[in-house]
Amino acid sequence: MKSSILAILGGASTALAAIKGFNYASQGQSYDGFASQFKTAASLAGANDFTSARLYTMIQEGTTNTPIDAIQAAIDTNTTLLLGLWASVDQASFDNEISALKSAIQQYGSSFADLVVGISVGSEDLYRISATGIAAGSGVGQSPDTLVDYIGQVRDTIKGTSLASKPVGHVDTWNVYVNETNFNVISSCDFLGLDEYPYFQTTDSNSIDNGGFLFFQAYDRVAAVAQGKPIWITEAGWPTSGPASNLAVASVDNAEIFWQDVACALENRGINFWWYILADAGASPSFGVSDNGTPLYNLACNATAGYTSTSSASTSTATASKNGTSTASHGSGSGSGSATLTTVTASGTAGAGTSGGIPQVATATASATAAGGSGTGAGGATASQNGDATGTNPVATSTFTGAAVKAQGSMAGLAIGALFAAFAL
Ligand SMILES: *[C@@H]1O[C@H](CO)[C@@H](O)[C@H](O)[C@H]1NC(C)=O
Ligand SMILES: *[C@@H]1O[C@H](CO)[C@@H](O)[C@H](O)[C@H]1NC(C)=O
Ligand SMILES: *[C@@H]1O[C@H](CO)[C@@H](O)[C@H](O)[C@H]1NC(C)=O
Ligand SMILES: *[C@@H]1O[C@H](CO)[C@@H](O)[C@H](O)[C@H]1NC(C)=O
Repeated sequence: MKSSILAILGGASTALAAIKGFNYASQGQSYDGFASQFKTAASLAGANDFTSARLYTMIQEGTTNTPIDAIQAAIDTNTTLLLGLWASVDQASFDNEISALKSAIQQYGSSFADLVVGISVGSEDLYRISATGIAAGSGVGQSPDTLVDYIGQVRDTIKGTSLASKPVGHVDTWNVYVNETNFNVISSCDFLGLDEYPYFQTTDSNSIDNGGFLFFQAYDRVAAVAQGKPIWITEAGWPTSGPASNLAVASVDNAEIFWQDVACALENRGINFWWYILADAGASPSFGVSDNGTPLYNLACNATAGYTSTSSASTSTATASKNGTSTASHGSGSGSGSATLTTVTASGTAGAGTSGGIPQVATATASATAAGGSGTGAGGATASQNGDATGTNPVATSTFTGAAVKAQGSMAGLAIGALFAAFAL
């Protein structure tokens, strides 16, 4: 195993305004459906500013290459757009996507261009041709070479138009981004769209209490190979109903915890995200956060939920995970953990926090030497998950690799957690 160690500190936590929205399928939708969903999303109780729409195709359903009605609906509702061109059929089909893009530019002019935040070429095409995607029967995908070619075609199409300055990227799952066969796709992107569902990570310890950890672990792994490109979360969510998926249980309570641990953490870190999904009543599993315009759980971001410490911190706990990987969390109290075959040598000191809702990042150092295994250590450290050991501080209830943690606005002098992650690639 290579020992190159990459440190990722919690994100630039002072960034606040980010793009927030939902994903919108094209199937069964026309102008009225899009417009009504965009209005619902923008006014969902508790969830402010979900005013962006990610699309999968430029083409209105039932037409050859007419621009999707979502564009007019977005213009009428002031909804920003992450456009998508479907890339997993063939060149003739992709030509239709390009034609619809050209038509939209001509037809709608600057009222359209002003709303476009990015253009994604493809969606999970590489996942569908990966071993995992094939095993899951996920359908037809696309090769990295073709995606690079298609990205070039889109760049040529928008050159000299009102969309010329818009970022062009691709959407896929974390495990394909970290596969070096896809290096050139990353190189040709301006941004990486990341779809990430711990619920579907059935070979990991994916219970809800580990959901946030798995999410940000995947994020950090993509960040490590992103060649400096920004990562936008293009899909994430936890189902309110449906079958269990390994240790992941679909329930309204768990979906709410995942919202707090992930959506709210993304918001705190200023990372653009498009949640999956506004509404999908009847689907199984069902990921919708609302039904008939009413949220199914509390969508207000709660700074005290899940991942933050609740008392002042001066020491940290840390645990070791599999060789070359370490995580350290800061919060109140201290402890040390040792898992089977694991030696913990991590420690750190959290910086002082401030109140007022301003996110802070403390600095920490940590190192660990470990072998895989599972077991339970002292001080609240627990080892689990295919040889990864994760530490939990008995007071700070969870740890997240690389996640910046938000200060708790209403209570003065509280702990600021900062997490430090290092892993061997
Ligand atoms: C559209 O929304 C943006 C924020 O996303 C806001 O600044 C702008 O004023 C809005 N425009 C209209 C016409 O409502
Ligand atoms: C990387 O992707 C290639 C092509 O899909 C596949 O053959 C290979 O098994 C993948 N590697 C890993 C480690 O998953
Ligand atoms: C915030 O989360 C905490 C911990 O989960 C919970 O006790 C509290 O009731 C929540 N507050 C709100 C306003 O939802
Ligand atoms: C992990 O490290 C231990 C101790 O150095 C070593 O014996 C073991 O082979 C390593 N395991 C892996 C999977 O690299």
